[in-house]
Amino acid sequence: MSVLWPAIRFTVNGEICEVHAPPMKRLLDVLREDLHLTGTKEGCGEGECGSCSVRMNGELVNSCLVPVLQADGAEILTVEGLAMNGRLHSIQEAFLQCGGAQCGICTPGMLMATAQLLASNPHPNLTEIREGLAGNLCRCTGFMRIFESVVIAAGDSAGAVAEEARHAR
Ligand code: FES
Ligand code: FES
Repeated sequence: MSVLWPAIRFTVNGEICEVHAPPMKRLLDVLREDLHLTGTKEGCGEGECGSCSVRMNGELVNSCLVPVLQADGAEILTVEGLAMNGRLHSIQEAFLQCGGAQCGICTPGMLMATAQLLASNPHPNLTEIREGLAGNLCRCTGFMRIFESVVIAAGDSAGAVAEEARHAR
């Protein structure tokens, strides 16, 4: 941390943080290097894969594209903020249950995109799930396990969407 740079303050997972970093340093790097929140992953570094997704002021953003200055005063939620009191979030449980995570590089971004989707649409159909996760790429799972995980996380395990997701594998 360098005191040569002006302070940038924001909230991460409910905690107020202050960093001294170059204003154009990527939020992704500030989270990982300055705040040691290494759950957020880098895939492409170009805004294409969604591995670095976090929620900022209620919007899903690619943290590799956000200069930290833009986060000044923002409320940020990273994957570390999903689990509470030592218990996995229901979205994380669903990914675990359905095999929605394999190598894990895309997983934090997928979890954050799912949290974003379910916050605005608690019971999405398969088309809405595909659209909600369209900005997130996975090279391991073939996507259907991820889509099924979202269905389970939404509490629709007995519904037609879950069946559709299972049969579309
Ligand atoms: S690492 Fe940010 S979108 Fe791929
Ligand atoms: S689990 Fe490996 S890229 Fe998605």
